[in-house]
Amino acid sequence: MESHGNVVHRGLLQTGDLYQYLLKTSVYPREPDSLKQIRTITSTLPRAVMGTSPDVGQFMSLLLKLINPKKTIELGVFTGYSALVTALNIPEDGKIIAIDHNRSTYEMGLPVIQKAGVEHKINYVESEALPVLDKLLQDTENHEAFDFAFVDADKNNYTNYHEKLLKLLKPGAIVIYDNTLWGGSVAMAEDSVTANRIEMRKYAIEFNEILAADTRVQIAQVPVGDGVTICRRL
Ligand SMILES: C[S@@+](CC[C@H](N)C(=O)[O-])C[C@H]1O[C@@H](n2cnc3c(N)ncnc32)[C@H](O)[C@@H]1O
Repeated sequence: MESHGNVVHRGLLQTGDLYQYLLKTSVYPREPDSLKQIRTITSTLPRAVMGTSPDVGQFMSLLLKLINPKKTIELGVFTGYSALVTALNIPEDGKIIAIDHNRSTYEMGLPVIQKAGVEHKINYVESEALPVLDKLLQDTENHEAFDFAFVDADKNNYTNYHEKLLKLLKPGAIVIYDNTLWGGSVAMAEDSVTANRIEMRKYAIEFNEILAADTRVQIAQVPVGDGVTICRRL
């Protein structure tokens, strides 16, 4: 993976220069200042690579405007880039249940979110994600109640999240799963994959096969950022 400024080139495009071109030409000039600020804050962290990439943010922004969702869920908030993308693009009365088991990174982005005037849309829950989804499911009012979900937490649980989210999402609702191409490693021979990627690569491959065979959703796997899979619940 190469670094371009504070954004990592994940190797999905032909070259790092092409990725840089895309960012400089189409993404950065249109990225709201508040998102730039969270990206800058994130770039100072040792685990900066975890932040949602700005091209994914731009892609999500467009989708969100098309869907206009009111009830949304996010799994994996980190410093809040994707939560802010969602908050900026849903209606004034839209809400995000944003779940992460480590609030300390969210605290870093929170002043920016407050200044952007959208904190009231975010219901942050510091917790493991699965129990929160289970709790939501205990109330039948939450069944088929959500319009949109973004999943960017622990990759080994994506299949568990998918099963629960399918019960929470309305027919026609969208869920986006991030990192489904895992730096392109899903298509590499195992012996050419770096040790730190082997395990997550396995989860990504398994999950991609599950989604490809899942007749409950329409899917599109898109090579933006680290690969995202968009599912429309049928
Ligand atoms: C890739 S980062 C999310 C990036 C974020 N979407 C953004 O826009 O920058 C993954 C996040 O998932 C959280 N996480 C990992 N496992 C989790 C779990 N089981 N339950 C809740 N949060 C989890 C981590 O604390 C981390 O903040």
